[in-house]
Amino acid sequence: MTDHDHTPREAATDADAIDADAIDGGRAPATDGGTDTAAGADDVELDPWGSATVDDYRKLFEEFGIEEFEEILPDVPHPHYLMRRGVIFGHREYDAVAEAMANDEPFAALSGFMPTGDPHIGHKLVFDEIIWHQRQGGDAFGLIADLEAHSARGLSWEEIDEHARSYVLSLLALGFDPDEGTIYRQSDNREVQDLAFELGAKANFSELQALYGFDGETNVSHMQSTITQMADILYPQLVDEPKPTVVPVGPDQDPHLRLSRDLAVRMRYFKVTEAFASFELEDDERQLVRAAYDALAASDSGSDTDGDAAVSEADGSPIRCETAADWLETYDPPADLATARASAIETLRAAGKEPIRPRVRFLDRNATDEAFEDLIERINGEKRVFEGHIDAFDLGRTAAEELARTVELDHGGFGFRQPSSIYHRFMSGLTGGKMSSSVPASHISLLDDPDDGRAKVQAATTGGRSTAEKQRELGGKPDECPVYELYAYLLAGDDDDLARTVHDECLGGDRLCGGCKDQAAELMAQFLADHQEKREEAAELLEDLDIDFDSDRRGTGGEH
Ligand code: TRP
Ligand code: SF4
Repeated sequence: MTDHDHTPREAATDADAIDADAIDGGRAPATDGGTDTAAGADDVELDPWGSATVDDYRKLFEEFGIEEFEEILPDVPHPHYLMRRGVIFGHREYDAVAEAMANDEPFAALSGFMPTGDPHIGHKLVFDEIIWHQRQGGDAFGLIADLEAHSARGLSWEEIDEHARSYVLSLLALGFDPDEGTIYRQSDNREVQDLAFELGAKANFSELQALYGFDGETNVSHMQSTITQMADILYPQLVDEPKPTVVPVGPDQDPHLRLSRDLAVRMRYFKVTEAFASFELEDDERQLVRAAYDALAASDSGSDTDGDAAVSEADGSPIRCETAADWLETYDPPADLATARASAIETLRAAGKEPIRPRVRFLDRNATDEAFEDLIERINGEKRVFEGHIDAFDLGRTAAEELARTVELDHGGFGFRQPSSIYHRFMSGLTGGKMSSSVPASHISLLDDPDDGRAKVQAATTGGRSTAEKQRELGGKPDECPVYELYAYLLAGDDDDLARTVHDECLGGDRLCGGCKDQAAELMAQFLADHQEKREEAAELLEDLDIDFDSDRRGTGGEH
């Protein structure tokens, strides 16, 4: 979660920079609510420590491979309103979590908060997301990223203690169940720090440089805090067992997710792939060889071809690599596989008369000798052992993955699954432009006096027309209105009818901004009063929580 701070943006790397010129092009997403001042105001990048605006969510799909949440929404049991309203717009492999949820299998949700200021309504989105997953049956984790705040932002331990306490109070007040879930501080979690150390052995500086724009000026503790975040993200799988884990965050945190997903793979003892013969294939090539094999295996025993090489296993003679190459020569592949065709053919030709036999392959990545031997032993059916890999002929892919993980766990490995993520849109500032913690009127703190909250809503910019007359005639622009966003992201809560009514009445000219704001301001004041009361109740729970809000750490921290 970002706190929309104004620290100088770190240098963008090529991989992370999103081209500002390409920003307008597409239809603005319905709930984006970007105001005129914000659109295209500056270049956009995914930088966890930069100021966070993402003007073009489409780019995130195209360039970074974040997937559209909409597509998996139907698979999510009882989706949260932030999902239903498109506030949560993107994900990485959330299917794994949705599936676990639907099948009553273990899963976890975890997010972290840098204690740099007061918790605000942007943090509330993430608190709610964690809590919702907890109520859906997931193991829930909320962590205080104090090592990061100290090293990357230079906050003193005293400030951090105070903010940390306040974040935890709001998390509890919003309904996090501390008996079922886990709240921790990075600085107090020895297991996380030990895991970070192990993960750090699989990452190097060039990578951090490419992902985060780190350079020769970046302080070492800041780097350590990124690797600590990797450990945070994998921690739910460490304390218990490997399981799907979702990390709800803003899209600025995506670089962290990409690295953690890579590291999860790099830590594994074995990599499981599918192969057809002795050689290795790229994913694209594999699809082509599979198509060739399936077609040849399905056809009759070769009577309709040139007759010399048998093309079916039905008569006991194998399909040979060169036959598959011939088949591919005449095959018209789908566009995305076109470039892989030539290399697949080349590989098959080089293998010549070698028979094609589908198999799963276990590649040794980090396995100990004992684990490798044990795996060989535990593979049922026909197998062949090579230097550094094992081919198994009677094992499905899923069974193979499971076996690889079991053997790894039995031999002291972590067996991590790749973590999943979901991304929510950033709220726009109440004063237009972005929300910024340095402009109090632009955002609402969860600690704002209810009257101040009311006043901030009353003073907000809107997507309304210049006069009531025009508004009635033309309708307002709810999708460009920070007040509508407040309804959709927070004030309407689970009540879709309310959100839709505000939206449609505004669009149709039946709703004027004065009354609309009065209603929103009132709801906001109520929400704040209620939340603050619950914070007070939560303060009593705090004692039993075993979190130290009075750290005796010394040191002044760093800034970059
Ligand atoms: N880097 C996050 C932020 O800027 C905080 C954080 C630390 C975090 N560890 C995490 C977020 C793990 C998600 C998951 O606020
Ligand atoms: Fe925004 Fe409400 Fe005005 Fe519509 S009527 S523009 S939603 S404040």
